Amino acid sequence: MVPSLHWLLLLWGLQGLCAQDYEEDYEEEVVTTRKKSKQFPSNSIPQNGRARIDEDCGLELAFLIDSSESAKDNHAQEKRFASDVMTRLQGLRLQTGRGLSSRVALLQYSSHVIIEQTFKQWRGPDDFKARISPIVYIGHGTYTTYAITNLTRIYLEESAPSSIKVAVLLFDGVSHPRNPDIFSAVADAKNQGVRFFTIGITPEANEPANIAQLRLIASSPASRYLHNLQDRGIVDKVIKEITALADEGCPLAQSQCACDKGERGPSGPPGKKGRPGEDGSPGSKGQKGEGGLSGLPGREGGEVSRGGKGDFLGHLESKGKQG
Ligand SMILES: *[C@@H]1O[C@H](CO)[C@@H](O)[C@H](O)[C@H]1NC(C)=O
Repeated sequence: MVPSLHWLLLLWGLQGLCAQDYEEDYEEEVVTTRKKSKQFPSNSIPQNGRARIDEDCGLELAFLIDSSESAKDNHAQEKRFASDVMTRLQGLRLQTGRGLSSRVALLQYSSHVIIEQTFKQWRGPDDFKARISPIVYIGHGTYTTYAITNLTRIYLEESAPSSIKVAVLLFDGVSHPRNPDIFSAVADAKNQGVRFFTIGITPEANEPANIAQLRLIASSPASRYLHNLQDRGIVDKVIKEITALADEGCPLAQSQCACDKGERGPSGPPGKKGRPGEDGSPGSKGQKGEGGLSGLPGREGGEVSRGGKGDFLGHLESKGKQG
């Protein structure tokens, strides 16, 4: 009896210890989860992340087409280039996943400037193509400065402050002697935030004196902003650079996540064994059992002892009969 009570007590004590262990582990886990979620709040995907990504990056792109007499043989090629670049910009996606929404203006210049289309007049790519195909070249001297000053005014009047402003100047590098100071005109435009690509239109534009002019007009670095219409893959090159500018100029605000929600990760390792359950309530009373087997026969009884003084009553009885 005594040893089994010992065992019971010991078992009960052990169970108590185990239960405590489980409880501690459980609490520990809760605490770590809480810590983790506090540690990386910026990792979570903000609710408003998508709305901002869906907002397009605005690009205002202007083509300045050389329409002087020296550009006669290249005029059609210039128009095709502008049209091809515009087409390629449609539906372009930036690295951040944002779309690019562009408005395109077109000016051609010689001794005067013809504003073929301003940003406000942008009615989409088909309209632009329809407008560009019939324009004929002017064919006088090259007054590049006028084209630039007219464009600067258009940017001032029509452009959105946050837009990427890109001017593509097509030019053979030779101005009319009476053309006003081109560098101060370009500086004004650049101060408005306009980046200048200069595209020499003829092989002669690559001659040292001409390319020096073009290089001074172009934004820097020249490797990015200075090209020639006769270069192989010129449309691709310009598209690549414009896309890079938009990627740099239209970053997503830091608090906004550019990424899509990732795939669901693999499931974690199985959890720890739970605490043992409480004792159940007592079961219902069972049915009456079957009758037991009949018992073993009893032991044989011992010898009956002889009666002695027990005769006393008998003795009295017999005495009464006598009286
Ligand atoms: C626009 O170009 C014309 C030449 O066609 C020039 O006379 C005029 O000064 C230019 N306008 C501006 C605002 O630069």
